[in-house]
Amino acid sequence: MENEYSSIHYDKYLQLNKILDAQKLRSNEFDKPAHDEMLFIIIHQVYELWFKEIIHDLNSVIKLFGKEKVQDRQISDAISRLDRISKIQKILVDQIEIIETITPLDFLDFRNYLLPASGFQSFQFRQIEILFGLKNENRVSYNQCAYSGVFSKKEQVILNKLEEGDSMFDLLDKWLERIPFLNFSISNQSNQSFNFIKEYKKAVGNMLKLEALAISKTHFINDHEKNIRLKMLDDSRVYFKSIFDKNNHNEKLKKGELKLSYKATMSALLINLYRDEPILRQPYLFLQKLIDIDDLLTSWRNRHSQMVLRIIGKKIGTGGSSGFDYLKKTADNHRIFYDLHNISTLMIPRSELPILPVELKNKLNFSFNQ
Ligand code: HEM
Repeated sequence: MENEYSSIHYDKYLQLNKILDAQKLRSNEFDKPAHDEMLFIIIHQVYELWFKEIIHDLNSVIKLFGKEKVQDRQISDAISRLDRISKIQKILVDQIEIIETITPLDFLDFRNYLLPASGFQSFQFRQIEILFGLKNENRVSYNQCAYSGVFSKKEQVILNKLEEGDSMFDLLDKWLERIPFLNFSISNQSNQSFNFIKEYKKAVGNMLKLEALAISKTHFINDHEKNIRLKMLDDSRVYFKSIFDKNNHNEKLKKGELKLSYKATMSALLINLYRDEPILRQPYLFLQKLIDIDDLLTSWRNRHSQMVLRIIGKKIGTGGSSGFDYLKKTADNHRIFYDLHNISTLMIPRSELPILPVELKNKLNFSFNQ
């Protein structure tokens, strides 16, 4: 194995001859050199390289969560990888400032040479969306065309296969459904059990009662304002009631208003409420990371659309969409982990949290037995 540690030169290892030879300016080919086209090409290439890293890390997390039983250690690995993805995403958002150094006039020097190329044809970007869990039926369409129509047959087969497989969202849903603490029977005291949803329901009732009392008793607002606030509290009561109703939840799933199953939603709520319990700490951080990633993807979509408005105004895109209006719609509609954000609406103060039975509390603790 003499060759095992044979030396390699920096250039060769990184194959810089390929990468640094991959900037062919179309404006040069047309004999109308446009200075800013170099930046335009390099920035897209840099994005694509980061997309490659995101797919690499995301696939590894999907693999970890594809297992029947996810070990605690694997949740830590998943959190680290998702954290890395979110840090890359921050760079992707910040890089938009660099694109914005191209002025509308300078962009017009080479824009026509790009037709019909567009970021819309980024195969890796579509893979990232699908791997996270964006479903075909939830996509904003333009010109009534399937988004995948811009890809080769071979690429379409790959995208279809990805769509058929489990995304990060699908695996999250299944994992949350498997979490065992929603119904917990206490072994040494017969006929006793802890039913989280039942206890939570009582706690919400209590919290709303206390809020109503605080509004009625305050001297800082007049009766008219008090009535308005009490009415708003009634609306909250109706909202919470609809949350407790599994059938109502399933109706919303059918209409596409919600995506996470009822059981998974309740587990996510339990994790958020009892995140101070040692065993729930990692699952909590995992959920937070997915929210970070969803936020950052939405920030990128918003920043990209704002940059497009600044550079090409309301012109149609080189890919043939309405441009800014289409991109804005994707920012508003392509969220994937929206149901995790919704959990914040269901949170109740620590003071109202149902007290966990000792046996369950012990189970949620780290234990060390010699
Ligand atoms: C001057 C700079 C840019 C302009 C004017 C621009 C413009 C546009 C427009 C108008 C669209 C809508 C599709 C179309 O009709 O073409 C689009 C989509 C897209 N662009 Fe850009 N873009 C720019 C830079 C970038 C960069 C640097 C990236 C990085 C990869 C990028 C990635 C994308 C992606 C992924 C889409 C698809 C978005 C979706 O369908 O949700 N764009 N771009």
